[in-house]
Amino acid sequence: MRHGAILPGCGNGCQQHPGESDSQSGNHHDPERYGPNLTGVRHPRTARVSMHFTINGQSYQAEPDIRTSLLDLCREHLGLTGSKKGCDHGQCGACTMLVNGRRINSCLSLAVMHQDDEIVTIEGLGTPDDLHPLQAAFVRHDGYQCGYCTPGQICSAVGMMDEQHQGGGRGMKTFTYAKADSADAAVRDAHSSGAKFIAGGTNLLDLMKLQIETPEKLVDISRLPLGEIEEREDGGLTIGALVPNSDLAADPRVIAKYEVLSRALLAGASGQLRNKASTGGNLLQRTRCYYFYDTAMPCNKREPGTGCSAIGGFNRILAVLGTSEQCIATHPSDMAVAMRALDATIITQRPDGDKRRISIHEFYRLPGDTPNIETVLETGELITHIELPAPPKGRQVYRKVRDRASYAFAIVSIAGVVSVEDGKIASASLAFGGLGPMPWRNPAVEAALVGQAPSDAVFNAAADALLADATGYGSNDFKIPLTRRVLVATLRDLTGE
Ligand SMILES: Cc1cc2nc3c(=O)[nH]c(=O)nc-3n(C[C@H](O)[C@H](O)[C@H](O)COP(=O)(O)OP(=O)(O)OC[C@H]3O[C@@H](n4cnc5c(N)ncnc54)[C@H](O)[C@@H]3O)c2cc1C
Ligand code: SF4
Ligand code: FES
Repeated sequence: MRHGAILPGCGNGCQQHPGESDSQSGNHHDPERYGPNLTGVRHPRTARVSMHFTINGQSYQAEPDIRTSLLDLCREHLGLTGSKKGCDHGQCGACTMLVNGRRINSCLSLAVMHQDDEIVTIEGLGTPDDLHPLQAAFVRHDGYQCGYCTPGQICSAVGMMDEQHQGGGRGMKTFTYAKADSADAAVRDAHSSGAKFIAGGTNLLDLMKLQIETPEKLVDISRLPLGEIEEREDGGLTIGALVPNSDLAADPRVIAKYEVLSRALLAGASGQLRNKASTGGNLLQRTRCYYFYDTAMPCNKREPGTGCSAIGGFNRILAVLGTSEQCIATHPSDMAVAMRALDATIITQRPDGDKRRISIHEFYRLPGDTPNIETVLETGELITHIELPAPPKGRQVYRKVRDRASYAFAIVSIAGVVSVEDGKIASASLAFGGLGPMPWRNPAVEAALVGQAPSDAVFNAAADALLADATGYGSNDFKIPLTRRVLVATLRDLTGE
């Protein structure tokens, strides 16, 4: 057993209480400030505590002044100088040690608080003859510059990986990974509540990094043969669930016959993201509600039963239609809004091998009391294709209002297909983004238009029908008059008025 040295005198030139201060803390001892004497060894106001520490598996007995940091105890009194003092204020991390398996800034922790803790410093991770794998990696890849803070970096990296392994860190939890080579294998692999499909990963990985999604198993479907777009005999298109958003937007048949879909896709995300994002994944992307992403805040969608921070909070981008007392989130997809205007059908394969066809009008669920359940899909049910019926008649427009011209989600968006015959609106199909928990469509809006000669009065009647049940929640109140203006402008465009 090694023993800690008797604490040396003040290293800061203090004449008042020689031999009683921590040499490294920079604190001149002020008896009023630093409190009572615990042992009364040298000065009536000096406080020392006799303690036992376990550092790098060895036992140490020491009697530190209660002001001594864990860093100073190790460096100045126990001869463990591997941990470094950079800023002494918790900013640089050079002093990082592992305490009971978690990394801490030892400059900001009092030694007296670590009775019986398991402490590991850089000296305890490896020896020159037997380096810890991370130490070896730092050497192999020249991972240090002057080397002063390298011990802290290595301790921090070791701690971070252990914390994530234990699920206590802020990073991604660990999972098992299976690459599916057929749809049958994919649904078999995903037939458990902890499993998730990963396609492009552009939404799922973001959520996994924040531990909002914590799948135990990832079933990689990205190599399944679901990347084709085929024309059917009835004139419609069958789109594989893995067709990238960029390919779907650029397909000549989509541009010629489903322009609203191509435009909606190009209004979303960025070139890089659209190259990776899949058609199926886009339909299932999750809300952008700020509080859903902020794991420190209550959110019924993320953690059922905890409450909704957006109601009464900052809800500028959130819904005014279809909300519940439990959740007012919007669905963020642009593509799904166009799919709803085009009456798409979603084709799936269930874990038992059965296929089913789900109209997009029945695919999404209102939040009600269970905002965490967003679609009618069952556990392990795979989207294989999306079907579009034969192209609709009329002019097609996608209009998106957002906070900046690119790379932003919709505040309000409209996908519209309207035909005019003999001066009257013959057919109308209108879906809305940014307003509700799902791409929104209301037959009353279309009923207000069909059979009417286009005019602002008729367009406003359609807006009345759309917004009859709209409710603002404070910071999103502006969406209601904004939607009216956007709808009137879009209908003018669609009807050539
Ligand atoms: C910075 C940024 C900006 C963005 N801006 C926009 C925007 O303006 N407009 C917009 O619409 N979108 C936007 N997006 C979202 C983007 O469109 C989605 O992330 C993307 O479409 C998701 O597709 P994916 O293939 O990557 O899905 P993944 O992340 O792989 O999966 C998403 C979800 O779908 C499930 N899933 C995937 N495929 C299937 C399947 N075939 N069957 C069953 N379940 C499946 C996964 O399990 C997961 O739950 C943005 C994203 C980012 C990161
Ligand atoms: S609106 Fe929905 S997603 Fe946002 S905090 Fe409330 S419950 Fe969560
Ligand atoms: S680090 Fe990849 S986009 Fe920012």
